[in-house]
Amino acid sequence: MVEFSLPPKSRVKPGKTWPAPAGAKNVKTFKIYRYDPDSGDNPTLDTFHVDLDDCGPMVLDALIKIKNEVDPTLTFRRSCREGICGSCAMNIDTDNTLACLKPIAEIKGAVDIYPLPHMAVVKDLVPDLTHIYAQYEMIEPWMKTDSPTPTSGERLQSPEEREKLDGLWECVLCFCCSTSCPSYWWNADRYLGPAILLQAARWVFDSRDEATEERLDMLDDPFRMYRCHTIMNCTTTCPKGLNPGKAIADLKIAMFERTG
Ligand code: SF4
Ligand code: SF4
Ligand code: FES
Repeated sequence: MVEFSLPPKSRVKPGKTWPAPAGAKNVKTFKIYRYDPDSGDNPTLDTFHVDLDDCGPMVLDALIKIKNEVDPTLTFRRSCREGICGSCAMNIDTDNTLACLKPIAEIKGAVDIYPLPHMAVVKDLVPDLTHIYAQYEMIEPWMKTDSPTPTSGERLQSPEEREKLDGLWECVLCFCCSTSCPSYWWNADRYLGPAILLQAARWVFDSRDEATEERLDMLDDPFRMYRCHTIMNCTTTCPKGLNPGKAIADLKIAMFERTG
């Protein structure tokens, strides 16, 4: 059975406590959500102690240290460790963010770490992204053209046209925003959510793409886009400083302008 993670400080019971390293003077406590579907047990919150004098500055550094030196079964995604791949997204100290960009020093007291909320959990801090990637596929995130490729081989943009993609192309698909959005929590089966809608905007507003009408037709649905109620949790949480709420508002304006 798949476990659905809940917002922090939920019903998860305390689990195993690992001792502080011998002789450590600068110890930080990490409380980490554990769930192994193969065990048949309920999730727990395990407690680890990390010597910050012997650890990198980011939460991801502590997780890697715990995995390498204390419990190799601790499971989480990571790759680039510099905010580029989007894979280390999780809920840290009540915020959805990237573990590799979150300084431990910013967190007072124990560091609570849960998987992204309201997603099925594969194991520990790894959410099941199958559904949200199927939604990503729905927006056909590639350039679509009918006109022949220019003889130069390039489809050019003016600086002004290119500027319209700023704030969109930087998205790393971490899904911190979608998993912080109440509308997405309750309607993920039909609402596309802020991450996928920001990606849709990235193609709608690309001057080189020739499928704008088709893309807007796909979004013109009571649920796919219009379930956004401008709550703006998405924008508040984005670890890349992007504004998915504005991207959705811009899509709504584009939709309105074509119908009048
Ligand atoms: S602005 Fe829209 S997408 Fe963002 S959190 Fe609010 S409802 Fe969700
Ligand atoms: S908009 Fe921000 S929070 Fe949302 S998926 Fe992209 S980078 Fe992550
Ligand atoms: S490890 Fe790539 S974004 Fe954190």
